[in-house]
Amino acid sequence: MIRTVLVTGATGTVGRHAVDSLVDRDAHIRVGVRDPGSATDRFPECVEVVAFDFEKPETWGETLSGVDGLFLVRPPTVDAGTVAAFAEAADRVGVGRVAYLSTLGAEKNPLVPHHRIEKRVVATGASHTLLRASFFMQNLLEVHRADLVDNGEVFVPAGDGETSFVDARDLGEIVAVVLTERGHGNRAYDLTGPEALDYHEVAAVFSDVLDRRITYPRPSPLSFAARTYRRGAPPGFVLLMCGIYTTVRLGLAGRVTGDCRRILGRPPRDLRAFVEDYADEFRADAETVHLG
Ligand SMILES: NC(=O)c1ccc[n+]([C@@H]2O[C@H](COP(=O)([O-])OP(=O)(O)OC[C@H]3O[C@@H](n4cnc5c(N)ncnc54)[C@H](OP(=O)(O)O)[C@@H]3O)[C@@H](O)[C@H]2O)c1
Repeated sequence: MIRTVLVTGATGTVGRHAVDSLVDRDAHIRVGVRDPGSATDRFPECVEVVAFDFEKPETWGETLSGVDGLFLVRPPTVDAGTVAAFAEAADRVGVGRVAYLSTLGAEKNPLVPHHRIEKRVVATGASHTLLRASFFMQNLLEVHRADLVDNGEVFVPAGDGETSFVDARDLGEIVAVVLTERGHGNRAYDLTGPEALDYHEVAAVFSDVLDRRITYPRPSPLSFAARTYRRGAPPGFVLLMCGIYTTVRLGLAGRVTGDCRRILGRPPRDLRAFVEDYADEFRADAETVHLG
């Protein structure tokens, strides 16, 4: 029985939904954030907010004190070794359950940081669940929203490849299930949505739901890189995005599995449901994005 769950990345895309799902369960929730002052209002009152930074090991001890379940997220800017060292520290102080947010195919690709972190999490001997997630639908609302809203375009260098998008809200619910229910220890799950869509089909879903023409111009990696760089994205980020969409072009991102359905006991949300739920955020006059 988990008594205290620590959620890392709690202000991020998946972590916020993990917190929402965990508050309905019988556990105390602690979130570790870099700036508790600005984050506290974002969580229900029952959630304990503590100062935590992966890159400041002096914050680890307080953050882990009394914790027995951990949702571990590697922030994109933090190196794999640091996140793995934190998992090892958690194990040393007796955190017996870990759910780690990984990426689909990480076990086969030694080049991704998740591959190395997974290995070190498993090696701790703590009861672990590896959550290997497909592309989040929320990427369309975050990184790609400006192209959708300003230009009516899904602007990604994905060729004709398919993606088995998963909704971060479903991932949050899955985090709560695997950390608080029996039967998920020492397992790896491949978490995808219910369908694989190419980006022509993605644009068609947006056009239909938003009642506005959205196109997929099928940009080359070079024109995607040039536009994203002009928008002010750092070169490392542009390179990362091109690398990610190369996996789509190569047909490696379209696998659909039944793991989400099995864990949730219902079908995972599809892209249409996601666009319907967030339609207001994709409208041209929406000024701010609310990801609640
Ligand atoms: N996007 C996808 O399609 C996809 C698919 C599969 C797997 N993933 C993996 O998902 C992970 C990212 O998850 P996400 O998208 O939910 O997170 P996210 O939205 O990128 O947010 C990152 C979180 O990490 C926190 N953070 C940043 N630096 C930190 C530090 N030094 N110490 C402590 N916390 C820090 C941020 O909090 P503050 O800024 O508030 O401090 C924020 O809560 C990545 O490892 C990525 O590879 C992503």
